[in-house]
Amino acid sequence: MSELVIVANRLPVDQVIDDDGGISWRRSPGGLVTALEPVLRSNEGAWVGWPGGVDQQLEPFVSEGLHLVPVSLSASEIEEFYEGFSNGSLWPLYHDVVAKPEYHREWWDSYVAVNQRFAEQAAAVAATGATVWVQDYQLQLVPQMLRELRPDLRIGFYLHIPFPPSELFAQLPWRRQILEGLLGADLIGFQLAGAAQNFVRLVRNRVGHRTHRERVYLPDGREVRAAAYPISIDAAEFEDLARSPEVARRAEEIRESLGSPKKIFLGVDRLDYTKGIFARLRAYAELVEGGHLSVEDAVFVQVATPSRERVEEYRILRDEIDRLVGRVNGDLGQLGRPVISYMHSSMPREELAALYRAADVMVVTPFRDGMNLVAKEYVACRYDDAGALVLSEFAGAANELRQAWLVNPYDINGMKTALLDACQAPEKEQSRRMRAMRRTVTERDVAKWAGDFLGDLTAVNPDQDLTLRPDFDY
Ligand code: ADP
Ligand code: G6P
Repeated sequence: MSELVIVANRLPVDQVIDDDGGISWRRSPGGLVTALEPVLRSNEGAWVGWPGGVDQQLEPFVSEGLHLVPVSLSASEIEEFYEGFSNGSLWPLYHDVVAKPEYHREWWDSYVAVNQRFAEQAAAVAATGATVWVQDYQLQLVPQMLRELRPDLRIGFYLHIPFPPSELFAQLPWRRQILEGLLGADLIGFQLAGAAQNFVRLVRNRVGHRTHRERVYLPDGREVRAAAYPISIDAAEFEDLARSPEVARRAEEIRESLGSPKKIFLGVDRLDYTKGIFARLRAYAELVEGGHLSVEDAVFVQVATPSRERVEEYRILRDEIDRLVGRVNGDLGQLGRPVISYMHSSMPREELAALYRAADVMVVTPFRDGMNLVAKEYVACRYDDAGALVLSEFAGAANELRQAWLVNPYDINGMKTALLDACQAPEKEQSRRMRAMRRTVTERDVAKWAGDFLGDLTAVNPDQDLTLRPDFDY
């Protein structure tokens, strides 16, 4: 029984089965795991989530000091709940319909069934009066389901991705159920204040509850608070990694292996259509084609983690990027000097830190992104105050990292100008901007984020009787 339970669609590690049947564990992709893993490490607790495969019936286990509680998904649930409703309906809808969302009733039924399973599993491992912190768009019904099972719990919910404007949210055939599901929480956290305001307005207009500023008043006397808590990283850990002699050596090796160019541009993303990878590579290629940058002097390193590969939109994106990189390198590259050095793979953190250290210009250009932790990781690694960050104004991070070269990723010419400005800026200007961003990233790290959220969670409904645990048996 745990006093703190994190509930997220994925466990922080995925189970991998080798060709010879051996089992190993690999870090799961994405920013949610990057942010929450250190939080669970410094607070004793359990993490409830899916281990990434089909029908795995696994007992709770401990991995590198973390207490993990697996939830099994069947093949049809992976298709309908995970690839379908979570990543074919909600993900594109919540990211400004960058791709067209699809709505299918059987996907929704699976979403309800899987959310119920997560709620039951969380109810089974939470101690009396415990705090349960539910994460992200895949589990928006869990707060209400869990409250029905365990009214003694304090329940928090955090949305890692953007919350859409009301006009888009209104498309969702199950919009009311989602709002009611979330209202099972005492505190609902968003990346940006505008998202929290959107949510409260929707609750007032679509569910009809009384609201005032950040608060929703439910008919049973309970209050729900919705507010912004911009997520972050363990900045000190990234900085330590970047300062290590091994990473410094590896950063030099990387530069040499690229032919010691004067400028290294870098992109690091999950291969996702929200990240704007295609547009940024096109902008860069046009700069080379136009003679503003040369293949002797500059290279663009793009690392893309494989993601959601069975979802059609992701397959299409991968093919488009393969084609673009092939064409650009074929047309403009020289022997041993590609324009774009592209890797479709996941990398150890040490390698990422070395890439961040080696990169003169970090290019982060999503069309829409809840926060974007890659931008913060780059800043955390630049203890030398060098390097330049080109950042989309549509990433949550742009709210805090105001000193980046901010761009509109839909404006290719604007991006070209920003890439050149960032790379040609005098060292003094680069370090002035980097110093200011480093102050923000160091002061507002993930420990502060979690401390603020969990502190505020205990302050909502302070009179709630946390000892009232109903009879409960699984
Ligand atoms: P998202 O959560 O949408 O994937 P973020 O930028 O917030 O976007 O977080 C991505 C996380 O995944 C970061 O912590 C980053 O270091 C990590 N990551 C991205 N690409 C890779 C890669 N190729 N190999 C390993 N980790 C990666
Ligand atoms: C984003 C989402 C997370 C998700 C991650 C990786 O960070 O906010 O909820 O876990 O991407 O995506 P995946 O579908 O592989 O879990």
